Amino acid sequence: MIDGIKILCGPVQGFTDCHWRNAHQEIFGGPDGYYGPFMRVEHGEIRKRDLADASPENNTVPVFTPQILACQPKDALRMVEALKDRGHHAIDINLGCPFPPIALHHKGSGLLQYPDEVKKLFTALSKVEDVTYSVKMRLGWDEPYHWRDIIPLLEIIAPTQVTVHPRTGRQQYKGVLNLDEFEAIIATCPYPIVYNGEIKSLEDVTRYKQIFPSVSGLMIGRGLIEDPAMLCPEKATPDNYCELHNRLRDAYTEQLNGGEHQLLLKMKSLWEVFLPNAPRKALKAIKKASSMAKYNIAVNELFYTLDEQ
Ligand SMILES: Cc1cc2nc3c(=O)[nH]c(=O)nc-3n(C[C@H](O)[C@H](O)[C@H](O)COP(=O)(O)O)c2cc1C
Repeated sequence: MIDGIKILCGPVQGFTDCHWRNAHQEIFGGPDGYYGPFMRVEHGEIRKRDLADASPENNTVPVFTPQILACQPKDALRMVEALKDRGHHAIDINLGCPFPPIALHHKGSGLLQYPDEVKKLFTALSKVEDVTYSVKMRLGWDEPYHWRDIIPLLEIIAPTQVTVHPRTGRQQYKGVLNLDEFEAIIATCPYPIVYNGEIKSLEDVTRYKQIFPSVSGLMIGRGLIEDPAMLCPEKATPDNYCELHNRLRDAYTEQLNGGEHQLLLKMKSLWEVFLPNAPRKALKAIKKASSMAKYNIAVNELFYTLDEQ
């Protein structure tokens, strides 16, 4: 809780996996809960990696909610049952993913324009016992009003919370946030609403809390990857950033089983988002590194430079 409002760490596929979540919570902390990136069924099977990421033995954060990518009822039921078998009784439903290959297959935000399919999905999910659902959605796929046909369907699953990112799927992660439509959702939806979008600092937390005093929480996505100490500035030290980085590098070294090229790509992808305000020269050296040995030298140099500042 910050300023009396619940703060949630949103799911960001490729970044906020169990290693990041566990390390973030132990080193920095701040969020009241963490959400897992969506799991999905591929070629009739739930991806093993996704199940491992959601397994209780791999998650040490006190409040963790796994997410499923909304799809055909039979696939969704399969994921819910698999999660239930692993002890999860609260599951988030993704109605927000904007990635075209997914959305064009009536999944994520792509499903928002098909209320009949949403109804079938919710109806199937509502029959599972001992599971509560939350929903994470956008305003619509390519129009900011598709939500109007979705909100009345929520009563089928009576969600514990509805997180809204006030953009359309077509907008992806850029462009104007449609706060008027968000306000309209608050006025229409009888379930607790969480605001999500462009919260990058503690000042933003205060600002959005003031703009939407009735929301039940704020969810932060990229802001916490960019600056993991965003919610606790006193922990914004090079040592803490380095600790997070090293824990991730160790975990991916083990996960990728010595594949240097893959490890290098994985670690470089972290730096596409992590610490964007670090010295440019040091960031550039990391992006240019052609081996893990060179990468490690560049990373040490970056943390050393941060220490000097
Ligand atoms: C690379 C990337 C991957 C994402 N993966 C997921 C995901 O798996 N599930 C989900 O609900 N949202 C996902 N999101 C959306 C974020 O949770 C969040 O809604 C979005 O980034 C807007 O919030 P922000 O401005 O605080 O980042 C992803 C966003 C990005 C940029």
